Amino acid sequence: MQIPEPYFTRLFKPVLFILLLLPALYYAYGIWQDTLGANPLEAIIRGLGDWGLRILLLTLLVSPLRRIINCPQLLRTRRMLGLYAYFYVVLHLLGYLWFDQFFDWEEIWFDILERPFITIGMAAVILLTPLAVTSTKGMIRRLGKNWKRLHSLVYPISILAIIHFWMMVKLDIREPVIYSILLAILLSERLYRKIKT
Ligand code: HEM
Repeated sequence: MQIPEPYFTRLFKPVLFILLLLPALYYAYGIWQDTLGANPLEAIIRGLGDWGLRILLLTLLVSPLRRIINCPQLLRTRRMLGLYAYFYVVLHLLGYLWFDQFFDWEEIWFDILERPFITIGMAAVILLTPLAVTSTKGMIRRLGKNWKRLHSLVYPISILAIIHFWMMVKLDIREPVIYSILLAILLSERLYRKIKT
């Protein structure tokens, strides 16, 4: 399946860009109009974390999906998806630092050391940062083969993100179950292809 080039660059990619921005706009509107329920700050932190994880998984889906539907152009959406995942995760972190900890750095440091789910979330963001920084065309050229090696960090990062979710979830485990199954499928597909070649 080939999307005609003008439609891909002038329609598909901009529409995708706007769709990915909608959750952030939803929370911005929610703060402005006070429509986020009884605990808006928790809703924002959790919602941004959810979107960070969902878009991270979507980024991993691009490569197998373009093979399944035979649409190589899809690969050109991967950087946008990856950067959006980072955007939501950074906002999620910022929400925690601001609304949960009021930028009390001593308390934050204590939290990172004492609460394993925070430690793991922090590790995931720290590891994700070099991937976001090196996502430009110039960096891809400069890093050559090492770029691919560096970006395969996305697999352990996704596992850390899922563990982070499991460690904080209480009663309703439906979402982490769905994301874990999805990630297991996506990682198995890669492993299978690696073994086969
Ligand atoms: C790749 C990085 C990360 C991802 C993908 C991620 C994702 C998530 C997800 C999916 C949730 C559950 C939301 C829900 O309940 O529906 C969550 C919760 C949370 N995360 Fe993260 N997170 C990441 C990093 C971090 C970091 C660095 C921190 C803070 C240092 C953090 C702090 C929290 C907090 C405080 C909650 C809510 C816990 C609660 O309300 O009980 N996360 N995160």
